[in-house]
Amino acid sequence: MSLALTTAAPAEPNRVTFPDALDDLEHYTTVRRGDVTEFMYTSREALEAIRNGQEVPDGTQVILQDRRDDEVYRLFVMEKGAGWGDDYDEASRTGDWQFQWYWPDGSINTDEDTARCRSCHMAREDRGFMYTFNDARRFE
Ligand code: HEC
Repeated sequence: MSLALTTAAPAEPNRVTFPDALDDLEHYTTVRRGDVTEFMYTSREALEAIRNGQEVPDGTQVILQDRRDDEVYRLFVMEKGAGWGDDYDEASRTGDWQFQWYWPDGSINTDEDTARCRSCHMAREDRGFMYTFNDARRFE
């Protein structure tokens, strides 16, 4: 029997790609949770679209860099692409956004089912599926 036949849904590689150039992005807000500091990044084009009440462009990544003891612990990434929502059934879709959990070396956390990411972020449908949408909107 192969473990691959079990019904649990571990993290699947999906269309999200590991972001390697945070320097090209804007650090638009910071959220602190106890010992965890979260730096949020996205592109200038996405921030401008949000400020103007428009859809962010396809190819946009929004990154949550989770830092602990001044080291990067993990990266949560949401990325949008044309038609990407079609990879999921309608009930678990977050528009055309897909989500992924990366370790700092670029590997994915295979214990995570990214349906969990989508199911929580779904509550933010009216704000581009983002929790820090208002911070992004106000960022100058
Ligand atoms: C139970 C709800 C919940 C789940 C599950 C969840 N998130 Fe989030 N996410 C949040 C909240 C709330 C924030 C705002 C930051 C904060 O409060 O820490 C956030 C912020 C983010 C951000 C920054 C953009 C934004 O929406 O503000 C990204 C990127 C992100 N999450 C990706 C992920 C990924 C990838 C997963 C799955 C591995 C995931 N999230 C799972 C609630 C959730």
